[in-house]
Amino acid sequence: MLSFISAKEAAEKWNISQRRVLVLCSERRIDGAMMVGNMWIIPSTAEKPIDKRTVRYEKEHVISLKPFVKWVGGKSQLIDELEKMLPTDGEKILTKYCEPMVGGGALFFNILSKYDFEQLYISDINAELINAYQVIKNNVDSLIEKLQEMQMLFCPMDENGRKFYYYSIRDKFNDTQLCENTATEKAAYFIFLNKTCFNGLYRVNRKGQFNVPMGAYKNPMICDEENLRNINKVLQNVTIVCGDYSLSRQFIDKDTFVYLDPPYRPLSETSAFTSYNSDTFDDNEQIRLAKFIDEINASGAKIVLSNSDPKNVNPEDSFFDELYKAYQIKRVSATRMINSKADSRGKINELLICN
Ligand SMILES: C[S@@+](CC[C@H](N)C(=O)[O-])C[C@H]1O[C@@H](n2cnc3c(N)ncnc32)[C@H](O)[C@@H]1O
Repeated sequence: MLSFISAKEAAEKWNISQRRVLVLCSERRIDGAMMVGNMWIIPSTAEKPIDKRTVRYEKEHVISLKPFVKWVGGKSQLIDELEKMLPTDGEKILTKYCEPMVGGGALFFNILSKYDFEQLYISDINAELINAYQVIKNNVDSLIEKLQEMQMLFCPMDENGRKFYYYSIRDKFNDTQLCENTATEKAAYFIFLNKTCFNGLYRVNRKGQFNVPMGAYKNPMICDEENLRNINKVLQNVTIVCGDYSLSRQFIDKDTFVYLDPPYRPLSETSAFTSYNSDTFDDNEQIRLAKFIDEINASGAKIVLSNSDPKNVNPEDSFFDELYKAYQIKRVSATRMINSKADSRGKINELLICN
């Protein structure tokens, strides 16, 4: 007798996401799969269809993509929780992805490696970061050449040699104006500094000059050629914008999944790192963002927002509970730096807010 399994069971069996199984079912690419009520069931003997993306990426399995920079507030730890928020069973499949404060793009790259969105949009206010995304998209060969050269020079050096080299690149980065002619050079400096500076921080002084000291990595991976080439391929289909998140308004509609990860509202005075640029993201900025979220909510988009939970420090602080009372608020546990000492980490709650 023919037996059936659910989409969830098929996903586990084939080691792909449940969402992918649903897409395959709706594209009629699984023999014998059928809809019962609002659920797909799949013959237990059905074979995993050959994934179209196998051809696209010339690989048998889902492509591996990692963020090309380490970024404060990176969401690698929350990926599983965030991924669960993509619409699945019985919900419509969304075709557009938008991440208007993309940073290092932990979720973005995870999504790109597994899902086929038709249109994608990313942005960030940090011009150097966005320049690096654009150069990887448009000029990856020259970028790789420059990074390999830096890696070959820097890695064999002793501590003093490395210091001299690091600070000379930092000076060049600060002295070179970003424009069309310097874009590739600046992206290479930016990635080099990110891979070799203290904790991968991006911090600038009042004059907008990058001022992070050198870090202490034994063998930093300055040029991850395979990852950069994989990113280059997938970015061809992505609109990359430098500017305020509100510019994404025109892209977002009822078919869009939007993920917003603003700079943290600081957990304590000492952990107040919100300065990715010379501007800060204070409570007024959080309120402006909440208004933007109301606007895109009205357009029918599926929205997920993450932030630090102020209740970690002050159980009475209901800032986000008040601001987002019309939305669902989930608290998830993550390990984070909880004060200014790099070795002082602890379990805290992060907020995931969605409509
Ligand atoms: C917490 S980080 C995002 C981290 C990202 N999720 C990751 O995985 O690396 C916040 C980002 O918001 C950006 N940002 C700050 N203000 C912004 C604004 N008004 N519009 C767009 N991006 C902004 C910062 O430059 C920073 O990259």
